[in-house]
Amino acid sequence: MKLLRRLLKWLAGTILVVLLLAFIATFIAYWRSTNDCEKKNAAAPSSSMKAIVRCDYGLANLKVADIEKPAPADDQILVKVHAVSVNPYDWHFVEGTPYVMRGMGVGLRKPKDIHLGVDFAGTVEAVGKSVTQFKPGDDVFGGRDGAFAQYVCRRAVGAVAPKPAGLTFEQAASINIAGITALQGVRDKGKVQPGQKVLINGASGGVGTFAVQLAKNFGAEVTGVCSTRNVELVQSLGADHVIDYTKEDFTKGDQKYDVILDNVANHSLSECRRVLTPNGIYVLIGGGGVNEQGFVGALGKALNAAVYSRFVKQKMGMMMADPSTKDLTLLADMMQSGKIKPVIDRTYKSLSELPDAIRYLEEGHARGKVVITID
Ligand SMILES: NC(=O)c1ccc[n+]([C@@H]2O[C@H](COP(=O)([O-])OP(=O)(O)OC[C@H]3O[C@@H](n4cnc5c(N)ncnc54)[C@H](OP(=O)(O)O)[C@@H]3O)[C@@H](O)[C@H]2O)c1
Repeated sequence: MKLLRRLLKWLAGTILVVLLLAFIATFIAYWRSTNDCEKKNAAAPSSSMKAIVRCDYGLANLKVADIEKPAPADDQILVKVHAVSVNPYDWHFVEGTPYVMRGMGVGLRKPKDIHLGVDFAGTVEAVGKSVTQFKPGDDVFGGRDGAFAQYVCRRAVGAVAPKPAGLTFEQAASINIAGITALQGVRDKGKVQPGQKVLINGASGGVGTFAVQLAKNFGAEVTGVCSTRNVELVQSLGADHVIDYTKEDFTKGDQKYDVILDNVANHSLSECRRVLTPNGIYVLIGGGGVNEQGFVGALGKALNAAVYSRFVKQKMGMMMADPSTKDLTLLADMMQSGKIKPVIDRTYKSLSELPDAIRYLEEGHARGKVVITID
């Protein structure tokens, strides 16, 4: 008995010391967390461009600044950006939420990377000496961190593809994150087959508007879930059925679905499973508003799904989009040939309007994509 008590005391003491050390380490890491804004005596840019810069987390800290225009390395292209699109991904970085991402390298006290944005479309201005895929004057689109700027440099391979002549820069800029997520959700994770019943929760947003059209292209019978004002839009994208979530809860209906793509995550896994067929697939794409992220955001549900799916016959899990030139090209070709159409909700006219664009997206009711043209 005495030995057990001593062992428990020792264990409690060890746990306390470990917790204390972890607390001190986090505290030190927090105060040491810094970024380029804190660099003293930084030289003025020799060749400058305008870009969005943020020294701290929060929408109020976004500003347009003159920074050094990048120069392409041997394997890179320099693109003059004509249009960018905004994604919830961007507001996660603006707000630094869910907080767990701050501890995963995004920056504990301040954002480590002061630049922002991913999706862009523009014209190649210069290429590195080993680049064979593109030449100056080519119109391209794709993704690159720091895309909210007049110029981006990125490797010539990866998430970049030629822009089809029939697409505007705004349309091409809307494709990267939302289109690739929808395509990989429908084709790779959902494994959608002709004749299957597919439900898309959040059918009127950036990912949803692509997903409805892609699932139709894969031959599925598609049900879209959105609010009253978007019913017509989702029908116009080809949805066979539309559920207005203000009037009806899709998890309480009798209809079963082979695949559910969830862009909203506002129902429990067991509620979603109730309307999945016995071999159905539930794909969690994301969800949660800007004020609902907390410490782990949608990752909590992703972990639940990983555990939950071990005990049920259906497949349930979260997907992460994987940048791909092949998929970008496929999506652009489908757009060019009219198989899918871009849904652009708003187009802002200058980089300085980015805070308004992100504020609008944060409200959680964008209809398709939000785009910014860059002068
Ligand atoms: N895993 C990945 O790789 C990945 C990639 C891209 C995006 N995501 C995540 O996926 C989510 C969706 O992205 P997004 O670009 O489509 O966002 P978005 O464009 O902001 O989506 C907004 C849409 O959500 C709809 N919505 C809001 N509440 C709803 C509800 N209760 N039921 C059904 N629909 C509702 C809104 O429709 P109403 O106006 O009709 O309410 C609106 O059209 C985000 O959380 C994003 O972070 C994940």
